[in-house]
Amino acid sequence: MEKSSKMIIANWKMNGSKALIDSFASQLQNVVLKYESIFCLPCAFLDYAFFHFPKTISLGAQNCSEFSSGAYTGETSALHIKECGGQFIIIGHSERRTHYHETDEVIVKKVELILNNDLTPIICIGETHSVYTAHQTKDTLKKQLAYLQPLLKHSHSFVLAYEPIWAIGTGLTPSLDEIQEIHDFIYQEINLSPLYGGSVNYDNYDAIISLPHVGGLLVGGESLKLERFISMLAGK
Ligand code: PGA
Repeated sequence: MEKSSKMIIANWKMNGSKALIDSFASQLQNVVLKYESIFCLPCAFLDYAFFHFPKTISLGAQNCSEFSSGAYTGETSALHIKECGGQFIIIGHSERRTHYHETDEVIVKKVELILNNDLTPIICIGETHSVYTAHQTKDTLKKQLAYLQPLLKHSHSFVLAYEPIWAIGTGLTPSLDEIQEIHDFIYQEINLSPLYGGSVNYDNYDAIISLPHVGGLLVGGESLKLERFISMLAGK
């Protein structure tokens, strides 16, 4: 199996357990990975995963504070994530924008902090269903990308993920043509091939990741399914 330059990122969200990490760890020992493989886990499991996963797997978190340290009870610093073996941090996921009211300004602060600590942010952008049905997706993405403009000089050191909000956890996805069109658009805007995320599963992943200007996949629910997700990392 030829190694691909594309990546697959697991986003376990607030799920999983040490037992599941053990199961993944033992199966991953025997797999030849086709894709660069990154597991973004709940922070509480990072240290444990770091010691149990094979070194072919990179680790990441799903959020961090916009501050380096200090009196911010309950927050997790990018430095703490780094100390626990995390190299990547998802930032601006729609669930954080919606449930925790994260703004683009806060997202930019977090990304700067992550980059200053030599970690890699995985920055999420995407449109709501009403924007999608009104054919306003490109305008919305353009505005989200405008916020990232000051960071684009670091674009070699971050990962961008396009996740239509209406596709996350719903079983719905845009058509392959629509995914292609949006990824071409983002590539033209910032010269970077984003990941696609939103209801990716074992049955649809190969067609999506094979598209030009799709840099890889960000996978939620399916990344908790041991056999199916490991088969994705091994490739077809
Ligand atoms: P999903 O989630 O694969 O379960 O749709 C993707 C994500 O939220 O990153």
